[in-house]
Amino acid sequence: MDRKRKVRELARGASPRFSRRKVLTGLTAGAALVASARVARAACAITPGQAEGPFYPAAIEDFDWDLTRVTGGSGRAEGEVIEVTGQIQDAKCRPLSGCEVEVWQANIHGRYSHPRDMPRGRPLDPNFQGYARLTTDKGGNYRFLTIIPGSYPAMADWIRPPHIHFKVRAPFNPPVTTQMYFAGHALNDKDLILAPFSQAQRASLEVAFDKIRADGIRAGTFNLTLAG
Ligand SMILES: [Fe+2]
Repeated sequence: MDRKRKVRELARGASPRFSRRKVLTGLTAGAALVASARVARAACAITPGQAEGPFYPAAIEDFDWDLTRVTGGSGRAEGEVIEVTGQIQDAKCRPLSGCEVEVWQANIHGRYSHPRDMPRGRPLDPNFQGYARLTTDKGGNYRFLTIIPGSYPAMADWIRPPHIHFKVRAPFNPPVTTQMYFAGHALNDKDLILAPFSQAQRASLEVAFDKIRADGIRAGTFNLTLAG
């Protein structure tokens, strides 16, 4: 397989047919280096792009800001509820209003509500929305409530750390697709998608949920900078 094809395949998602070596090669040759070059040119560090993965929602019906409840559901999603906030800005550090921010993730059991995600002992949670579509306000800010996702097996010897997928589109800026991680999680250092990135790039993708709201919910901030 030629180099371009490897990177294209990787961008579609780290599928089980990839070996550890192929995934690392593709990342080093493609996404990580492109992101490094952009970071070097920008006034504000561009958020590194990461694979969309194979579980972008196939059918989207419920997409409000609260992923912990489903319209018509019987209660709240399983798992620890967290609040994620952040600001979208361009490479000159200007906030971007009116951006579309899509987020999707696995539930507490590490299961996506997607036909391609085989159960393997990981049940669905009927009260977990799993996806949201948000719009940034005048200050470029977004916010949503969700739960900390579970980890899940990507290959026999590779377990993905908890993460939330993001796809951000803004007028006059190229979109970014990436993943947000939980700072300090033991699986981060071994992850074939996250680990090859530089420390600075990783720091921009790993969020510490160290703020506590008045109601006890932990909160974290994930800011994104688009390359435009
Ligand atoms: Fe994922």
